[in-house]
Amino acid sequence: MDPDLKTLLADLAAFGDAHDADGANRATRMLNITPDTGEFLAVLVKATGARRILELGTSNGYSTLWLADAAASIGGAVTTVEMAQAKIDMARVNFERAGLADRITQLGGDAGTVLRGMEDSEFDLVFLDSQRSSYIGWWPDLQRVLRTGGLLVVDNATSHAPEMEGFVAAVRRAGFTTSLVPVGKGEFLAVKN
Ligand SMILES: C[S@@+](CC[C@H](N)C(=O)[O-])C[C@H]1O[C@@H](n2cnc3c(N)ncnc32)[C@H](O)[C@@H]1O
Repeated sequence: MDPDLKTLLADLAAFGDAHDADGANRATRMLNITPDTGEFLAVLVKATGARRILELGTSNGYSTLWLADAAASIGGAVTTVEMAQAKIDMARVNFERAGLADRITQLGGDAGTVLRGMEDSEFDLVFLDSQRSSYIGWWPDLQRVLRTGGLLVVDNATSHAPEMEGFVAAVRRAGFTTSLVPVGKGEFLAVKN
């Protein structure tokens, strides 16, 4: 990884920790993935050769940068969806600073609405880190936009296991090949068969 990007990611991780610990309410918290989750996402992108990546839940773009840097190394790109305008604006600045803006498409709005407008099999990898209570409602479109053989990665699978129970069960019922990986806040992996 480029040393400047490494420094930016370390700065963003420190900013996110300090900001979220400082009494910010849930809506304004950054709620970034952990650095080891970022490393894990980069490995998944490169190992699976995922060039068309969708992220739901941009926040200020910390996880997007991990995904986009890995995608860029294999000629890929990331589409990321966020509904909070202040976070969209912060992320845009971070993408420019990282020199990865040309690899990232930012979409503003409700992820469920955006998902409904997407094509079938549009993505090789979907990273889900958004409004957990909505995942079950988004599930039909999540399945549809992921290509056969594509990988779904869901954050907070152990940190918020009870909230994720119904969604995880639906994914398993749909015949995906799944695994719960104890990195960061817990990553639920599911391959579309
Ligand atoms: C956990 S944070 C994402 C953190 C980010 N992936 C990272 O690691 O840097 C979840 C984000 O989803 C956004 N969000 C919540 N509900 C949403 C919805 N229905 N549509 C779009 N974005 C939503 C929140 O504003 C928040 O920024």
